[in-house]
Amino acid sequence: MTPRSTGSRTMDKLSIRDLDLAGKRVFIRVDFNVPLTPEGQVAEDTRIRASLETIRYAAARGARVILSSHLGRPKGKPNPQMSLRPVAGRLGELLGQTVAFANDCMGAAAEQAVAALRPGQVLLLENLRFHKEEEANDPSFSRALAKLADLYVNDAFGTAHRAHASTEGITKLMPKAAAGFLMEKELTYLGKAISNPDRPYVAILGGAKVSDKIEVVQNLMKLTDAMLIGGGMAYTFLKARGIPVGKSLVEDDKLDLARSVLGDVAERHFPLKLPIDHVIAENPDAAPSGTVPVEKTPADQMGLDIGRETINEYCSRIALAKTIVWNGPMGVFEKPQFSRGTVAIAEAVANARATSIIGGGDSIAAVQMAGVADRITHISTGGGASLEFLAGCKLPGVEALTDKKATGAE
Ligand code: 3PG
Repeated sequence: MTPRSTGSRTMDKLSIRDLDLAGKRVFIRVDFNVPLTPEGQVAEDTRIRASLETIRYAAARGARVILSSHLGRPKGKPNPQMSLRPVAGRLGELLGQTVAFANDCMGAAAEQAVAALRPGQVLLLENLRFHKEEEANDPSFSRALAKLADLYVNDAFGTAHRAHASTEGITKLMPKAAAGFLMEKELTYLGKAISNPDRPYVAILGGAKVSDKIEVVQNLMKLTDAMLIGGGMAYTFLKARGIPVGKSLVEDDKLDLARSVLGDVAERHFPLKLPIDHVIAENPDAAPSGTVPVEKTPADQMGLDIGRETINEYCSRIALAKTIVWNGPMGVFEKPQFSRGTVAIAEAVANARATSIIGGGDSIAAVQMAGVADRITHISTGGGASLEFLAGCKLPGVEALTDKKATGAE
C-alpha cells in the first residue's frame, strides 16, 4: 500500500471517452468477483450491473469488447467452482445480447475467441487467477493479455488496489490505458466525500481478519476523528492489550503489529474503540451462551458479535458523526443469533445525519439485511479498494493508466 497525499484521481487520466473505439479490440478489465450459489449461479449481480454502462458504451461505438476479470482466490490453478462462465450468462441477460465465453484468458482459446468478434460483440474471458502469473504481475503473462487487444480500459474499481498483470503490467504494453465510467464514478465520489470531510469523521471497521486491515487502521487514524472496531479483527487488538479472549479469532503473528498500533493510539490520544462486551458461544454454529464483558470470556468460548453496551457506545458515536466510512461486519452476522450488532450498526449509520460510505460485500449485505441500503449515501463496489483509497493510499490500477497530459487529451 502506497501512502498518498493527493489521491488516485481519474481526472488526470485518460477516460474511455477519449478513445476512438470503432472497430478496435478493447480489453476491459472489470471486477466480476461476484458470489455464486452452490449450484454455480450468480447469487448477487451488483458488480456486473455496475459495469454495464462502460460495456454498452464501447459496444455501441463499434468496439470488439473483450472483458476480463478474476473471481475468488483460486490460487493460480483452474477451479471449475470459480469459473466465470455463469457470469457470461448473467451479463448476456442484463445486456440483452449474447456474450461469448473463452475457456482461457490467454493463448489459443482466447485468441480464437477474440478473432471471431465482430464490432459491437462482447466476449468474456475465463478467470484470470487460474494462472498464478496474474497475481505475480508476470511480464510474459501481461504480454499474452496485451496481444489480444488494441486498447485497454480499466473499470475494475474493486481490484484497483492490486498491482496485478491485468491491472498494472498490461498497461505498460498498451498504447493507451483509460478509465471506464465505473472507475471514474467511484473515484470522483469517494474523492469528494473525503477531500474535505465534514467532522466528526468516524470509521467503522470489522470483518474477520486484522491482517487485511491493519495498515488501513494506521492510515485512517491520521484522517478520522474516531475508529470503532468490531468483528474477528477486534480480538487481535484485545489480546495485544492483554485481555483474555478465550477461543476468539486471533492472528498471533500480528500481535506485535497490533501492539505497535495501540502504542500510536495511546500516544496520539486517538479514540480507537474496541468492544467492551460481546456475545459468546462455543463455536459459530452453536447457540449463544450469553453476553459478557470481553475480559470475562471463558477459555472455551469465542466472541461472535458485539454486545449491548458496545452497540450503545458505537451507536452514540455514529449518531454524532458527519462523515462515516464502514467496512466489515461486527460479528458472524450471516447467523441470525450473531447478527444483532451488525444490524444495529447498519441502522445507526442509515439514521445518522452524515455522509455515509459503505464498501465490502458483507457490509453491503448487512445494510440490505437491515433494509436501509437506500439511506446510505454511497455504496461502493470496492471493499479493499475503497478502504485503501479512503485511507489515503494510491491505487496501482489507477496510477498505471495513461496520463491525459501525455496524450494531449485535456
Ligand atoms: C474484492 O472483492 O475486494 C476484489 O474483487 C479484490 O479481490 P481480492 O481481495 O481477492 O484481490
